[in-house]
Amino acid sequence: MSDKPHGLARNTSNYGDRDFALYLRRSFAKSMGYSQRMLDKPVVGIADTASDYNNCHRTVPELIEAVRRGVLSEGALPLGFPTVSLCEPSLSPCSMHYRNLMALDTEAMLSAQPMDAAVLVGGCDKTVPAQLMAAISADIPAVMLVTGPMLAQAFEGERLSACTDCRRYWARYRAGEVTEARIGELEGKLATTAGTCGVMGTASTMACIAATLGFMPLAGASAPAVHADRLRIAEEAGAQAVRLIKNPILPSQSQMMTQGNLDNAVRVLLALGGSTNAVVHMAAIAGRAGLSLDLKRLDALSEETPVLVDLKPTGEGYMEDFHAAGGMRALLWELRDLLDLTTIDLDGVSLADRIGDGSHFVDRRIIRAFSEPVSPVGGLVALFGSLAPEGAILKRSAATPALFETEARCMVFDGLEDLANRIDDPALDVTAQDILVLKYAGPRSPSGMPEAGYLPIPKKLARAGVKDMVRMSDCRMSGTAFGTIVLHIAPEAAVGGPLALVQTGDRIRLSVKDRKLDLLVAEDEMARRRAAWQPAPAPKRGWDKLVYDQVTQAPLGADLAFLRAAP
Ligand code: FES
Repeated sequence: MSDKPHGLARNTSNYGDRDFALYLRRSFAKSMGYSQRMLDKPVVGIADTASDYNNCHRTVPELIEAVRRGVLSEGALPLGFPTVSLCEPSLSPCSMHYRNLMALDTEAMLSAQPMDAAVLVGGCDKTVPAQLMAAISADIPAVMLVTGPMLAQAFEGERLSACTDCRRYWARYRAGEVTEARIGELEGKLATTAGTCGVMGTASTMACIAATLGFMPLAGASAPAVHADRLRIAEEAGAQAVRLIKNPILPSQSQMMTQGNLDNAVRVLLALGGSTNAVVHMAAIAGRAGLSLDLKRLDALSEETPVLVDLKPTGEGYMEDFHAAGGMRALLWELRDLLDLTTIDLDGVSLADRIGDGSHFVDRRIIRAFSEPVSPVGGLVALFGSLAPEGAILKRSAATPALFETEARCMVFDGLEDLANRIDDPALDVTAQDILVLKYAGPRSPSGMPEAGYLPIPKKLARAGVKDMVRMSDCRMSGTAFGTIVLHIAPEAAVGGPLALVQTGDRIRLSVKDRKLDLLVAEDEMARRRAAWQPAPAPKRGWDKLVYDQVTQAPLGADLAFLRAAP
């Protein structure tokens, strides 16, 4: 350890008398019953995201107990502290609107409180990116610990888990194939253990990315929330944080957040058939390190990175199957020829050494060999064109190939309220061949870029058996959802992007082959519409105003501009 102040002596309050500040801090800490011997030790801060509003974090208290064991066993003092906690279905307008608030809160607490290293306990979709953004900006040695995925529930001959099966059954209910009584019964069968969604949704994807980047051990990405291994991983996270105090590896260190490591993470995202949300979160994480996630680069990597993991929503298995099949170690071994193996984790171990020699078990039903992939190309493509000059995303692995080349007229919804009011109107002039367009749902809109991109199939079409249509918007889609859905259109409608000018009846051309998304409206007509366009009134105060003033577009991660690092 260096001669710099450590433990409680770090970051003393500013009274103009450092010794007094430390004296005061110690005497108040002693009111909690700590001995002088404990207060002299280095400190590991533990970001506690337990919340009665966050079912995905139900196990956080016992995880923190295990982290404390690990910290104490290595001779440091564990000090937990609360931060903002975000659970996907618990927040209005949506959890994404608050991801940057959690990142800002966590960064401030990591920077302001006395600690030599930290363990960040997260799990639900927005929490892991928020905590990684915070750790990188605070530039503090920090170990990521996720709560882990829930187990699937055996039910009448099939398995169920949040939230691909929630969406599947809800779509069938809307189509009249599932009764009111049945959908009510299923409500209690879809999420039946503690943990994050049990498919390769955003939470699982971000956990795998955090492990790839080196912020946690590889097994930490997939061990189920209720498995005893999860507690051992938590104990080890505490011990690892203490090792980091002795041999600090900072996120800013040259081998950690590198372009090579970012590419590795993108390749993992693609090979997982992972969540589209991870593209936005990785762009934000990269921005905190002065890097950028270029959509054209993502598209190029997608062309040469096969999908190897057969999990819902793109395949069949659940996260517990991925863990049992060999998990991240097995996946990275298959991808090794595409990866930068010189990147290091928090222990300074290279990716090559973390992967090992390939002698591990692998279940090929879940993690395919590189030569026999689920799909020879990656799950995501980036689209550009007159409707998306700064880009858009399509998850082709969860889409219908027959719709990849579509030119059709569109039906436009001016925001989520309009969508809710009209989508099921029997008089809606819409056919299965039309394109559904939702605007005013991007990062600067009042809805805060929700997971509303999975526009429901209009009820009258669903009841006629239509399972998929081309849908597009400036918002996001749940990582557990599926369909031919174009997302993250940038610039968004709320800043006056071309999306704002689309009108019902316009023709749009989607070409996955050419990576194009074009609005087929003459330029003079577009100029006329542009001149008439008015932005919505700005919020007047609070977090909403800060978001409105500062939020970037999706390709920059929808982060707050002033929190991004200089390149
Ligand atoms: Fe928390 Fe899905 S709702 S991970």
